[in-house]
Amino acid sequence: MLIKSIESLNDGLNVLWSDSSSSCFPWLWLRDHSESKADLHPDSKQRQIDVFSNPPNNSVDKVFLDENSKHIVIKWIDESESNLSFELLQNNSEPSLPTSNAMNTLSFWNTPSEIINFPQMSYEEVMSNGGIKTWLTHIQRVGFVLVTETPETPEATKELMERMAYIRNSIFGGFSVWDNKLENPDDTAFTSLAIEPHTDGTYVHDAPGLQTLHCLKRNSIGGENQLIDGLAIAEKMKHNHPDAFNILCSVVIPGRYIKSDVYLEAHRPLFRVNDNGDVIQVSFNNHDRAPFRLENDQMNKFYDAYKIFHNLANDSSRQFEFMLDPGKVLTFDNWRLLHARSSLTGYRQLCGGYHNREDFESKLRSV
Ligand SMILES: [Fe+2]
Repeated sequence: MLIKSIESLNDGLNVLWSDSSSSCFPWLWLRDHSESKADLHPDSKQRQIDVFSNPPNNSVDKVFLDENSKHIVIKWIDESESNLSFELLQNNSEPSLPTSNAMNTLSFWNTPSEIINFPQMSYEEVMSNGGIKTWLTHIQRVGFVLVTETPETPEATKELMERMAYIRNSIFGGFSVWDNKLENPDDTAFTSLAIEPHTDGTYVHDAPGLQTLHCLKRNSIGGENQLIDGLAIAEKMKHNHPDAFNILCSVVIPGRYIKSDVYLEAHRPLFRVNDNGDVIQVSFNNHDRAPFRLENDQMNKFYDAYKIFHNLANDSSRQFEFMLDPGKVLTFDNWRLLHARSSLTGYRQLCGGYHNREDFESKLRSV
């Protein structure tokens, strides 16, 4: 969309677009969003102009289009100047409330057979130029990626994770190596027990964005991993069980993690949605759900809705099951996919850690 013409009005600058639509940008908004060197730091892109401490005189002396630099220049009566790119004006041509990014609903999967273009690549590929973009795109598309032929060492796994971003610290440490023979395990994850489908970190305000797991040594029977697309369950419930979906969007569920010297607790609905009602995060961990009680009729409705989600997540036809073998590194979107594990006998040594959600999104924007 190109700018056809501009016109100064009392309320603001009216921009007439090539499709014959128009946008009237208020004068204060234009001054506040100026991209001139003085108003917006050229390197940090941080706002330097302050329109609040000393409210400026927004009387316009002159306004014109600079076709060469593709900017609109406004000369104010106080002799200051604002400069706004056509791109900024185009991006803001329609007023709208800022909303969190919704997940991509084009490629959710109800069964493993619906996973198109299986998200797998070699270690060499992901570590080569441009490889990280493919890796990120797989996660964005279907919620996970498997990296094969990885050297079976903690160092190589850490290097792979750091290709994306720094590794997040948590109650379990940063990058960690563990096995299922700990004397005093902090979590079921460090045992041989089965674990129901869940997302990690329902007890922290900002749940880990990505989780990476690599089984370095395996001399065991069982212990298969399962992945379930929580976004697919959300879409199914939205259409088939809208009342239950709405309950799971609104009831704030407490999650907790308790040790002798730690008591973490956070509250989040199972489905977090943006202002458009699109899902931005799935949080579910029946093991870590803390006690809460609603009015009896509300509690019953909550249990009915939670049961629908629980049973869909535990439906084996929805689960992509595989064995984490040495050399195969799994990374998945912990805001979208649920993960589970069958019980095992024998010995396993694993390593891995977390990434923050914003770093995943940042890398997607910048590669
Ligand atoms: Fe987990």
